[in-house]
Amino acid sequence: MNYTEGYGLLKGKKGIIFGALDERSIAWRVALACKREGASFVLSNAPVALRLGALNALSEETGAAVIPCDVSKEDDVAAMMEKVKAELGSIDFILHAIGMSPNIRKSKPYDDLNYNWFQQSLDISAISLHKVIHFADKAGILNDGASVVALSYIGAQRIFSKYSDMNDAKALLESIARNYGSRLGKRGIRVNTVSQAPTITSAGSGIKGFDGMFTFAEKMSPLGNPTADDCADYCVTLFSDLTRKVTMQNLFHDGGFVTNGISEELMNDLFEMHARRDAENGEDS
Ligand SMILES: NC(=O)c1ccc[n+]([C@@H]2O[C@H](COP(=O)([O-])OP(=O)(O)OC[C@H]3O[C@@H](n4cnc5c(N)ncnc54)[C@H](O)[C@@H]3O)[C@@H](O)[C@H]2O)c1
Repeated sequence: MNYTEGYGLLKGKKGIIFGALDERSIAWRVALACKREGASFVLSNAPVALRLGALNALSEETGAAVIPCDVSKEDDVAAMMEKVKAELGSIDFILHAIGMSPNIRKSKPYDDLNYNWFQQSLDISAISLHKVIHFADKAGILNDGASVVALSYIGAQRIFSKYSDMNDAKALLESIARNYGSRLGKRGIRVNTVSQAPTITSAGSGIKGFDGMFTFAEKMSPLGNPTADDCADYCVTLFSDLTRKVTMQNLFHDGGFVTNGISEELMNDLFEMHARRDAENGEDS
């Protein structure tokens, strides 16, 4: 299928896109899809990420201004919303694509977490969603009917050992989305999380064992793993008016992974692996 021309689903809409680091980032792909669908937006990332310089290319390609913001700092988030007001006036959508765990980065196991880092994981990856919505609303820039989407992972419901304290962070993120969604619904504002399958990005491949999680999900999902571009198209639908009554949901975007018990492919792989092992053991004895 060819979506290069777009459907004009976001014509006239304005938004904020957090979390584009490099061209593999889900947020980067969302920015391109939003542009294709007619939206205008600002891009934001932590100052340390902006120093890498890659975001300038996306800014040029999409005509979007870049506003630095470390979401762990309340003052940064408050100040950034004033800049968004100056740039865009008011907004119709927000993408929260931010995640970071110092414990995972530094290979601290779940049963020996550094608690300061644990708090950073929760703060940056989850509580920041609360801050972003709160300060956007306080600045008076959230339009009625706006749509907020945050990216989550199935680790919020099921334990993936290598995902460590990010399992907890995603559970909190999804809870904040529900809580805020319930409060903003009267204004037609929707808040949802998209639970994306493993995707090869900087954050994704920073997790030890990511290749195993990716391959397992790929073999388990009837439709296969969705790419970052697939995720971007899904986010576009959630920012559009076509999903105006969808809120407080955690929406799985995973090719069917969450509902499948086991796939034929995975069963065959396991069968072959055991047969090989049995044969090897037989040869050894
Ligand atoms: N890649 C996957 O397999 C996968 C799967 C499901 C969900 N997700 C989620 O998707 C989102 C985007 O991740 P990605 O995979 O595109 O990786 P990514 O590394 O490209 O994006 C993560 C972003 O978070 C930003 N960030 C970190 N600390 C920040 C701070 N203090 N302030 C502002 N920004 C900060 C980083 O600079 C980066 O741009 C994350 O929430 C991630 O957990 C990813």
